[in-house]
Amino acid sequence: MNLLVNDDYTSMSEQAAAIIEAQIRSNHKTVLGLATGSTPLGLYQSLIEGCHNREISYKDVQTLNLDEYVGLEPTHPQSYHFFMKKHLFSHINLPAAQTHIPDGTAQSLEEECSRYEQLITEIGPADIQILGIGENGHIGFNEPGSDFSGTTQVIQLDPSTRKANARFFNSQEEVPTHAITMGVQSILKSKRILLLASGENKAWAVKKLMDGAIDEHFPASALHQHPDVTLVIDRQAYHLISDESK
Ligand code: GLP
Repeated sequence: MNLLVNDDYTSMSEQAAAIIEAQIRSNHKTVLGLATGSTPLGLYQSLIEGCHNREISYKDVQTLNLDEYVGLEPTHPQSYHFFMKKHLFSHINLPAAQTHIPDGTAQSLEEECSRYEQLITEIGPADIQILGIGENGHIGFNEPGSDFSGTTQVIQLDPSTRKANARFFNSQEEVPTHAITMGVQSILKSKRILLLASGENKAWAVKKLMDGAIDEHFPASALHQHPDVTLVIDRQAYHLISDESK
């Protein structure tokens, strides 16, 4: 597992963007695995700048998002469809038909999970998968205890995740109870993984991840099974590791 520690959130975001842009330059038909949450916002801002000022074109790029809440329409401001449009898709030259996000409103969620996993096989795997990390170590919405052999599936959100994500809703009750997420196995299919973490509230999860033990109670630890993972983090997220090595 490679570790890149940046001074702050801005340089973390720019470093991740530079890695993605180098990938798109080397292959204009790149498949990008994308994540939501506050962490990749700076990265997305930087990719938008790259599209406008550094001649990076998304004309032939395809994207596969990790997850979506069950029950939220794509027009719901807290849906991940809405998030992606607002923070990235509507600002770059990426055709809408080349963006893919699980449909949390599908009549049969089971069929939607199979369709999405099939799609990952057809257009993927992602050349680069972006990941954030939950304070409890979740990746996508694979909560502690998730089966590491899992593919795209419906999961029940952990109370701690609903609490952490309540800041985006009017109240914790409004946070959906379920989500569709790529499974750990679907994520591990990606050719390369970039995990971003910023801020002190992620320091515990980053330290636990770097400690190395593979444990289904800590989903991010599954990444130790992948040959090409890079952690792009800032000093605050690194501080529990650096404090120890002093
Ligand atoms: C959310 C998403 C994850 C994300 C994580 C961290 O629940 N499903 O993909 O990585 O939580 O979010 P944030 O970056 O806002 O801390």
